[in-house]
Amino acid sequence: MDKTTIVMVIAIVLAVALAITFSLLIPHKPEPEAAEPVEKKRIGVEKIEVGERIKLPAPCYTSNTSVEEALSKRRSIRAYSGENLTIAEVSQLLWAAQGITSPRRGRTAPSAGALYPLELYLVVGDVEGFDKGVYKYRPEEHELEKVGDGDKRGELAEAAVGPNQEHVRDAAIDIVFTAVYERTTGKYKTPVYEERTGASYLRGIRYVHMEAGHAAQNVYLQAVSSGLGTFVIGAFIDSEVKKIVNAEEQEEPLYIMPVGRKG
Ligand SMILES: Cc1cc2nc3c(=O)[nH]c(=O)nc-3n(C[C@H](O)[C@H](O)[C@H](O)COP(=O)(O)O)c2cc1C
Repeated sequence: MDKTTIVMVIAIVLAVALAITFSLLIPHKPEPEAAEPVEKKRIGVEKIEVGERIKLPAPCYTSNTSVEEALSKRRSIRAYSGENLTIAEVSQLLWAAQGITSPRRGRTAPSAGALYPLELYLVVGDVEGFDKGVYKYRPEEHELEKVGDGDKRGELAEAAVGPNQEHVRDAAIDIVFTAVYERTTGKYKTPVYEERTGASYLRGIRYVHMEAGHAAQNVYLQAVSSGLGTFVIGAFIDSEVKKIVNAEEQEEPLYIMPVGRKG
């Protein structure tokens, strides 16, 4: 081997050694593993037993819709797409109607004497991953308590009177407003009160109806903000609605609000 060849061999050996050293020093990205076939998870519908309570997701307190925009877009919407609602959307609507908003148990809607005569029932048809049935809203805990099994939208539609009753069946959910009048008339029928106002216990009844209006309007505005459609129904057979939602004896139904994605 002549001198030039020896130098070249040494240079090559050095270059290889340097390359190996660098490759060991530079951290290597691990080779991406062959992607596992993704098992499509079906959103399961777990059976909820009557009497069982379900915690609702916390409501959201901000949105991109101003009150002015919600007011100007509020409309009675009766055509629905048939798609599911999410439980977060349901939670938001119930909170808008009667949710607790202050440590002193104040709610989203005003109440004469803070006596809270309203009760809300949720007739569940198409809510993602949620068992069909009838539920009572428990505002204090922001929970739903199951009070009846099965899809009751059809029966509720039959109990509604008038040309728009079929929308009760088409909606993903129906919110049924009931009221215990005695909670309010118990206070607003006292002799002292009558003397001062010249009104009988009818004033208490008047207050309850006003409160249903406040709560229902909240649902209308929330529906606009959530991109959903709703309307109010006041025409129905009281005794049948009571039976369908398993309302307590002293509760009287006041409104049905079907809610769905706009069709
Ligand atoms: C007290 C009350 C009762 C109502 N009852 C019904 C009803 O039984 N069926 C119905 O389709 N709409 C009912 N509505 C909705 C009205 O038809 C609706 O608000 C009206 O046509 C005006 O339309 P808008 O809400 O889109 O402004 C009722 C509204 C109120 C305030």
